Amino acid sequence: MIKICGTGSALPAKKVTNDDLSKIMDTSDEWISSRTGIRARHLVTTETTTGMAVEASRQALEQAGITAEELDIIIAATLTPDHVLPTLACEVQATLGAVNAVAFDLHAACSGFLFSMNTVAAYMQSGVYKNALVIGAETLSKIMDWNDRGTCVLFGDGAGAAVIRNLEEDGTNGGLLSFAQHSDGARGSVLACGNRPVQHPFAQPREEENQNVSMDGQAVYKFAVSTVPKVIEEAVTKAGLTIEDIDLFVLHQANQRIIESVAKRLKQPIEKFPMNLQACGNISAASVPILLDSLNKDGKIKPNDRIVLAGFGAGLTWGAAVIQW
Ligand code: UT7
Repeated sequence: MIKICGTGSALPAKKVTNDDLSKIMDTSDEWISSRTGIRARHLVTTETTTGMAVEASRQALEQAGITAEELDIIIAATLTPDHVLPTLACEVQATLGAVNAVAFDLHAACSGFLFSMNTVAAYMQSGVYKNALVIGAETLSKIMDWNDRGTCVLFGDGAGAAVIRNLEEDGTNGGLLSFAQHSDGARGSVLACGNRPVQHPFAQPREEENQNVSMDGQAVYKFAVSTVPKVIEEAVTKAGLTIEDIDLFVLHQANQRIIESVAKRLKQPIEKFPMNLQACGNISAASVPILLDSLNKDGKIKPNDRIVLAGFGAGLTWGAAVIQW
């Protein structure tokens, strides 16, 4: 059985409310909260992506009751590591002393934690690894255009982590029951962030790309509300269950209206869709594991609960997994 055995999370100390933003740009709490549900986000001041990832990972390891040396694999989902090299996963490995683990990053934007979890599960199903640490960690504030009020108000910083183990011998049911995941690169330009241009002495200088996030918000909105219910149904059907069998839907925390629309299309009560976007904003790959950790720590998940985890975002990418706690 492939099971989440521990969770953890870390947020930067600095909380920035919508009212704080309205003092530095032409926006308002009314505009942001009525369109997105977001009231505040945490932004790094001294914290780093690696530091938050390590903090979240330590909590997850402690709850799982295993040591860093017992880890076989670490996958870090991020689009905002502290450095291009070394990778976030390798930096976490070094800090934790997870000397027996292979460590690498997986970049699938807001679907990153989910795709990383599914990658780990595939390794486990084929018997390659037993103990995994999966991290979603972001410092999105550094790739925002702080003059673009249409995007910078939506995002926050933070990290979440989960220890996932293959407990073949424990004989109980549950764990990861199914997953489904998709990409559509042809629609990728609706949510983009450029990279450093080619600058070497043997090439003509190329036009600088926008190195901050740019987004066609309405296109992303339509993409999310049409694909997320379908991919959830796909994963639930693969698990041999119906939507009514699901106790909790832990969705990527982008926008309250997107989540409400998914609930409506699935004909499920909104109470089954916990949210933390009001306090955290959208933290891309970190949003699902941070929410999962708070539900876990607050005792909101009962043994055997069936939970859908779902991510969607840049790429475009989207996916869902069904787990039994
Ligand atoms: O991980 C996936 C991440 N992406 C998403 O989840 C995005 C999904 N999309 C959305 O959530 C919505 O499309 C937004 C919240 C981003 C935007 O809402 P909208 O209702 O689609 O607004 P809009 O972009 O059409 O802008 C409407 C107006 C514009 O003014 P004019 O041109 O009508 O005069 C904007 O300039 O709102 C203005 N506006 C703002 N006003 C105050 C844009 N941003 C702001 C702002 N404060 N922060």
